Amino acid sequence: MGRKQPRELRLAARLLEPGPVVLVTTQHRARPNVMTAAWVMPLSLEPPRVALAIHPSRLTHELIGKSEYFALNLLTVEHLPAIHLCGTVSGRDLDKFARTQLHPVDALEVDAPVIEEAVAQIECGVVGRLGLGDHDLFVGDVLAVAADEELFGDRWLHLEEAPLPHHIGAEWYGAVSRLYRARIPGEEEEETETLQEESGR
Ligand SMILES: Cc1cc2nc3c(=O)[nH]c(=O)nc-3n(C[C@H](O)[C@H](O)[C@H](O)COP(=O)(O)O)c2cc1C
Repeated sequence: MGRKQPRELRLAARLLEPGPVVLVTTQHRARPNVMTAAWVMPLSLEPPRVALAIHPSRLTHELIGKSEYFALNLLTVEHLPAIHLCGTVSGRDLDKFARTQLHPVDALEVDAPVIEEAVAQIECGVVGRLGLGDHDLFVGDVLAVAADEELFGDRWLHLEEAPLPHHIGAEWYGAVSRLYRARIPGEEEEETETLQEESGR
C-alpha cells in the first residue's frame, strides 16, 4: 500500500461508490469513538456532501450531535474483526480503539480523529439532520479527503487485491471480486462483446 494523499473533495463520492462499510469516527471533549456504518451515501458533488443514517441509541449519534463533525474511514477486509467489533459493541461500554488496536490520529481539517490503518478518509462537518424514521440522517459537508495513492486514482483501482468489505447481514460480509469495464454497444454489436473484464489497473 502507498501513502495516504490529500485529494479533491468531489472524490468523496467515488470513494463511496462501491458501497463499502465505513468506520465513523467522532470526538467530543477529548473522547474519541468509532462505530461501523453501512447506511452511508454520496449526496452531492457541488458542494461535496455525504449522508449517513444513525440510530439515536448510538454513542456516535450523541457525539456527532455535540461536536458537529465526523469522519468516514475506509479499511480493507484485512481489518474485518475490528470492523465487526466496532459494529457490535458501544463506546459506552468499551474503548474500541484500545480493544481493536486501531489508532486514532489527527484529521486534516476536522475535530474528530481519523484511523491510521484506513486506506482512505472523508472528513465532514454537519450541515443538516433529518429524522425520517427510527434512524436520523446526518448530512455532512466534505471538508477533506485523503486516499492511498496506490489503491485509489480517480476510482478504486485494486479492489480484487485490496478488497473493501460490504455488509451482507449479521456477521456476513462480501467484497468486489472482479471489475468489469462497460462500453455502450454499437448497433450491430452483441451486448456481451462490450463487457470486458478489467484487471483494475
Ligand atoms: C456491518 C454493520 C453496519 C452497521 N451500520 C449501521 C448504520 O449504518 N447505522 C447505525 O446506526 N448503526 C449501524 N450499525 C450498528 C452500530 O455500529 C452499533 O450499534 C455500534 O455498537 C454503535 O456504536 P457506538 O454506540 O459506539 O456509537 C452497524 C453494525 C454493523 C456490524
